[in-house]
Amino acid sequence: MSTLKTSRVVVIGTGQVGSSYAFSLINQNITDEMVLIDLNEEKTEGDAMDLNHGIPFGAPTKIWAGSYSDCKDADIVVITAGANQQPGETRLDLIEKNASIFKKIVTSVMDSGFDGIFIVATNPVDVLAYATWKYSGLPMERVIGSGTLLDTARFRFLLGQYFELDVRNIHGYIIGEHGDTELPVWSQTRIGSERIERYMERYKPEGTKEDLDEIFVNVRDAAYQIIERKGATHYAIAMGLARLTKTILRNEHSLITVSTLLNGEYGLNDLYIGVPAVVGRNGVERIVEIDLTEEESQKLHHSADVLKKAMEPLHE
Ligand code: 2OP
Repeated sequence: MSTLKTSRVVVIGTGQVGSSYAFSLINQNITDEMVLIDLNEEKTEGDAMDLNHGIPFGAPTKIWAGSYSDCKDADIVVITAGANQQPGETRLDLIEKNASIFKKIVTSVMDSGFDGIFIVATNPVDVLAYATWKYSGLPMERVIGSGTLLDTARFRFLLGQYFELDVRNIHGYIIGEHGDTELPVWSQTRIGSERIERYMERYKPEGTKEDLDEIFVNVRDAAYQIIERKGATHYAIAMGLARLTKTILRNEHSLITVSTLLNGEYGLNDLYIGVPAVVGRNGVERIVEIDLTEEESQKLHHSADVLKKAMEPLHE
């Protein structure tokens, strides 16, 4: 008799993002087993106890504070460890602090015999996803950065509010760096199946291009606005990471804007950057090349240039 495989997710880094993600996973019953790893072992034990005590209100999930050897049988290792932005700091300012931490983490995970999928959430996420791909030696489809998944969610949410419409009927993408040079793909943004300008003309004639520009600025600067108020962002990214985990474990083939390695797509090479991709049981199954206007393409290339520059220290 064949036995069903037990799914295991390892969360490395149980700060605000890691613990909110762990909470999302058990609330949505996404994995059979969840292992928490952090330098602060005591806190991690406390988190495991606290989460375990919630299981009677949810569904059976085996949760424990573990070590790198637990990565051997993991389907997914999610890295959220590292320093996060302080007020006024950009994501790219974090490179130095986080790149060296990553080398140690990724090497320790690989030493366990891990052969699954990495999800990287630590900032600057595009640079650290690239570093994880390099340090791990895994195929690119099995190293995924959270990319602009959260920015796309923020974009859809704000457009939903603006048009007073269910966010699930808003289709559009934020692509590029998860950071200051990201861009909205307005030319492909649709409300239901209508192009956004057409929908606006018909159902919100008082709306202006400036309104839409302001929506994008609020998307791009959302993290700054939240960090100024509460010091960190963690709930929405945690839910986005749970969504990504679910499409992998359940092989949903969902189209999500993740950070992935480009090999000629969009005229770009050898960098991780946020673009729409189909994600399923094997990781990134397909990068989707949407048509961009000349201006959008130029902005994406500018974002790529900024990221390439930021990645230079990794090649030294
Ligand atoms: C965010 O966008 C800080 O990258 C984090 O919320």
